[in-house]
Amino acid sequence: MNLPLLERYRQRLPIDEDTPIISLNEGDTPLIPLAGPPQAAQKGVKIFAKYEGLNPTGSFKDRGMTLAVSKAAQRKAKAVAAASTGNTAASAAAYGARAAMKAIVVLPAGYVAAGKVAQSLVHGASIVQVNGNFDDALRLVRELTENFPVTLVNSLNPFRIQGQKTLAFEVVDDLGRAPDYHALPVGNAGNITAHWMGYSELYQDEVIEQRPRMLGFQAAGAAPIVTGRPVDSPQTIATAIRIGNPASWQGAINARDESGGAIEAVSDEEILRAYHYLASREGIFVEPASAASLAGLWRWIRQGKIAEGSTVVITLTGHGLKDPGTAEREVRLPDPVDATLTALVKAAGL
Ligand code: F0G
Repeated sequence: MNLPLLERYRQRLPIDEDTPIISLNEGDTPLIPLAGPPQAAQKGVKIFAKYEGLNPTGSFKDRGMTLAVSKAAQRKAKAVAAASTGNTAASAAAYGARAAMKAIVVLPAGYVAAGKVAQSLVHGASIVQVNGNFDDALRLVRELTENFPVTLVNSLNPFRIQGQKTLAFEVVDDLGRAPDYHALPVGNAGNITAHWMGYSELYQDEVIEQRPRMLGFQAAGAAPIVTGRPVDSPQTIATAIRIGNPASWQGAINARDESGGAIEAVSDEEILRAYHYLASREGIFVEPASAASLAGLWRWIRQGKIAEGSTVVITLTGHGLKDPGTAEREVRLPDPVDATLTALVKAAGL
């Protein structure tokens, strides 16, 4: 049986003997070598996907939530709250249930994928849908937690970032070194901040000799860090990263600049191309936001900006089953056929 994430990296995390560990056996996700795309193979570029969809609630959020909720439990908190595009909500709902705490999740009405809403509801969270976007929801939750005895578990809570930095530890454990590049989607920008913190701590302790260049990708309709100013009404099919004013904006800038990396925008078309490629060619089903990492990396490879022979890690942040709506829009379910072998053979295209 694998140890809880917080036990495995206890020395590098802000926990003590009195911290109750609220765990669902998060982390320890696979680092899967990709077969393609062909342009990468031609240049001897090795791409590994850190498949965070295999966390207990189906996204990377569980790494931070196990610590945030454990610390809240240590302080005898009775309730946690988060604004969310969906995954933080599902994670807060699950870990809240496990810690017997009330979980309040505030969602932008109409823009959260169905799987995430279902999870949050069934875990028993108090769901509040607001007529506004994620940025409005976050503003409200900050006000709520400043005025009521409720613990904020958005990534403004430093324990969330501390927990999420463990992704970098696992990558280094698996590769035996840091990758040359690490690409990931950027929404509220907590995760790129956390990745960079993880690599930087290992670098400071001389566990690794170099840190990766961080490549962050925002959706073109929700790319405030790329354009340098908040976006009032962000739009993208990748609803997880439909965010106009990221809370960890500065953390993302630091990760970009200190690593010699970049934060760029990818279009919804590029995201969907990578989404289909991952599922149909590599066998990895992710939600659209996750595919932004490969979409962006592809461009870098095409433009010849990834040095030959490089090792690249992409974080695939959430499971494809989170967002059945996108899958249904993207592919067509054929009509039923008669229950005969003839009809089956014809329908199967044999
Ligand atoms: N990918 C997925 C699947 C996400 O759910 C998120 C963020 C991101 C990428 C971006 O990560 O915000 O740390 O830059 N989801 C948050 C939520 C906002 O509420 O679930 P980030």
